[in-house]
Amino acid sequence: MKQELETIQADALSAIEAASDQKILDEARVAFLGKKGRLTAASAAMKDLPNEEKPAYGQALNVARQAITAAIESKLAALQEEADKKSVEGIDVTLPARELLEGGLHPLTLVKDRAIQILRRMGFALAEGPEIETEYHCFDALNTPDDHPARNEKDTFYFDSGKLLRTHTSSVQIRTMEKATPPVRIIAPGSAYRRDEIDATHLSVFNQLEGLFVAEDVKLGDLKGTLEYFFRAMFGNETEVRFRPHFFPFTEPSFEIDVKLHVKGQKPKWIEVAGCGMVDPAVFSSLAESRGDDLFDPEKVTGFAFGMGLDRLAMIQWGIKDIRLLIENDTRFLKQFA
Ligand code: PHE
Repeated sequence: MKQELETIQADALSAIEAASDQKILDEARVAFLGKKGRLTAASAAMKDLPNEEKPAYGQALNVARQAITAAIESKLAALQEEADKKSVEGIDVTLPARELLEGGLHPLTLVKDRAIQILRRMGFALAEGPEIETEYHCFDALNTPDDHPARNEKDTFYFDSGKLLRTHTSSVQIRTMEKATPPVRIIAPGSAYRRDEIDATHLSVFNQLEGLFVAEDVKLGDLKGTLEYFFRAMFGNETEVRFRPHFFPFTEPSFEIDVKLHVKGQKPKWIEVAGCGMVDPAVFSSLAESRGDDLFDPEKVTGFAFGMGLDRLAMIQWGIKDIRLLIENDTRFLKQFA
């Protein structure tokens, strides 16, 4: 019996030694230690032995099992090491590692996110509308008559279909009010397009953030307070903000807002960052007509609206003197914000 155990062990060790990969090694393990393996069969035979021979036989079984198990383990480690070596063959592991390129957010994204964060805290919800707009939403519904200069071919990008690239995000005011029930308190960041001469403060595609608040009894003081608070939250308590009377067809009274731009080594100067005003009752009247109800009856609701230039806000935030830097994708510029 003991003789037989020695044979099994010797066979097992040579099978293990000969295994050239993990699959063959596993087959050897099953052949000797598996449920139907040779060593397992030999252990089952113990019950037929006379009692006094059992302890010695049991011990011999253990020795054989341990020897086989240890051989499998060390063979497995050897095979693994071989596989590892093969997998890096031809690779020079002493080469320096590849540099990890780290991304960063564009300054426009940073100011936009910050502006949204401040305004949402004040209760404004996000809204949106299409960039390819109808003349109706961009102009007519905003009390902007046919002969207004903004509608001129020279100022606006028209499609053959009669649609246009929106010249401002104010069209989202209309799109929102067409569906909403007052009170309405929304902001709508997005691109706007004009055939502007490109210079240090003008681009033909730029980014605006529209705001609209309509409810019972909204006053001019609410508009001023909201925007003054906004600019201080955005740029700090010392920020200088000025409101200049202006004209927009869809607000009355209307204002333009300037903020002081500080560029290193230059004299600080006012730059225009937003237009705003109290929603013109004519806008509500035309809306009441298109909706066919009186929820936006100008006798019942009032409101304020504003539209700011996000590119300009970025210029003020970081003292950027040329708006074109924001679209040139020069990484030497952009890296400073990452
Ligand atoms: N839409 C105007 C512009 O682009 C800005 C504005 C928005 C003015 C809302 C008043 C109210 O110049």
